[in-house]
Amino acid sequence: MSQGLFLTLEGGEGAGKSTAARYLAERFRVLGREVVLTREPGGSPLAEAIRGLVLSSWDEGVPAETEVLLMFAARAAHLAATIRPALARGAVVISDRFVDASWAYQGAGRGVPAARLAELEAFVLGELRPDLTLVFDLPPEQGLARAHSRGDANRFEAEAMAFQQRVRQAYLDRARAAPERYALIDASLELPAVQAQLAAALEARL
Ligand SMILES: Nc1ncnc2c1ncn2[C@@H]1O[C@H](COP(=O)(O)OP(=O)(O)O)[C@@H](O)[C@H]1O
Ligand SMILES: [Mg+2]
Repeated sequence: MSQGLFLTLEGGEGAGKSTAARYLAERFRVLGREVVLTREPGGSPLAEAIRGLVLSSWDEGVPAETEVLLMFAARAAHLAATIRPALARGAVVISDRFVDASWAYQGAGRGVPAARLAELEAFVLGELRPDLTLVFDLPPEQGLARAHSRGDANRFEAEAMAFQQRVRQAYLDRARAAPERYALIDASLELPAVQAQLAAALEARL
């Protein structure tokens, strides 16, 4: 039996994560691997229900504390129901967003302190971390333009450009701080060039 492999895809809205997730899933399936393609927030029935809550707009607003706790609550369910069982049976798990998104969006974006994020990460993930995180980097205005043509805007896409810039910078900082666990993808290029970078990143790290 193959060993489980945990890949996560991160980056701003419209950066090409979901497109890349489908491409990567196909690459592993042709090798005969079981692939579990999943996403956050969500990835199990309970976690998808929480996704509905946390991506919706509420007249009363959504406090940053509520947002970060809902994200980690969903992540705990996702890990328990989907990710850990799949890794245990040797599958390749490809998650469209994971914990780095909380560092970028709730941390850099909303100002949740790093110490709080570190506590939640330790509580919910334990020792588990992705084997490789692909960070899709793109100027946010380009990503949002791509995402808008897709037409499913959420609370995060509606945030100001300064918020989007902080998210981008946080992802860049995290990728540069731990190059052995991250691959930075220039997502501004055309699809074939993006796919070539993905293939090279897998080749180099795995
Ligand atoms: N490299 C690319 N160049 C141009 N358009 C792209 C590229 N990658 C994805 N797209 C398109 O941009 C839109 C957003 O891509 P998507 O994969 O849904 O992004 P994300 O999941 O990161 O929000 C889609 O319409 C997709 O077809
Ligand atoms: Mg997507």
